[in-house]
Amino acid sequence: MSESEIAPELGTMRVAYELGSLDESGLAATWHEQLARWLDEATRAGLPEPNAMVLATADGHGRPSSRTVLCKGLDERGVVFYTNYASAKSRDLLATGLASATFPWFPMQRQAHVRGPVTKADPAETAAYWATRPRGSQLGAWASPQSETVGSRSALEAMLADVEQRFAGVEQIPPPPHWGGWRIEPQVVEFWQGRLNRMHDRLAYIRDYGDWHIRRLAP
Ligand SMILES: Cc1cc2nc3c(=O)[nH]c(=O)nc-3n(C[C@H](O)[C@H](O)[C@H](O)COP(=O)(O)O)c2cc1C
Repeated sequence: MSESEIAPELGTMRVAYELGSLDESGLAATWHEQLARWLDEATRAGLPEPNAMVLATADGHGRPSSRTVLCKGLDERGVVFYTNYASAKSRDLLATGLASATFPWFPMQRQAHVRGPVTKADPAETAAYWATRPRGSQLGAWASPQSETVGSRSALEAMLADVEQRFAGVEQIPPPPHWGGWRIEPQVVEFWQGRLNRMHDRLAYIRDYGDWHIRRLAP
């Protein structure tokens, strides 16, 4: 069976993008204010998980992979997410020092994209965020050897039971040494707004030797 027979509707799926526009005069002075503005608008529009972003990394041989993470920090220094430092993505980040992330806000016919070098968040910053996480998420972070093969669901649940026992009676669970934040320090931040006839608006803040410039890119 050919692919077109399995999902014949794929070729005809098409959306006319006409919800908005983006021009240079409407942009915030800095990329992080503009990103905060679009995050806020996505949140107020009721989009599910408005801070979800698709993180792309590559390993030392250039082999790419991507997955969703949650943006948990944003300021002039960059965009922060939290994860396991021994995971596949963290191994990639250690190998290349580079990442890109895309916020897909499809109902608003928008996406924003950041890319640049990464650094680990300061342990104090990680600890401050860790303290806001629910206890269940904290235990999960201790229990799960993220990206490793596990024998079965019950093996995974046994790992959780072990850490529950280990931290029984401990009120403030400390962050695991293998867990923390990564900050993408963008060199490019692009804002994309869909327009009619594929004539989309793409405006990018581009850092060049410390100075930021705004460029319009062809759709
Ligand atoms: C909506 C959503 C949010 C997620 N947020 C995170 C996150 O903030 N941190 C994280 O490590 N994994 C998060 N995940 C799981 C990752 O997508 C991924 O499965 C996991 O981090 C392992 O990735 P890796 O093996 O490539 O390192 C999230 C998944 C989804 C669908």
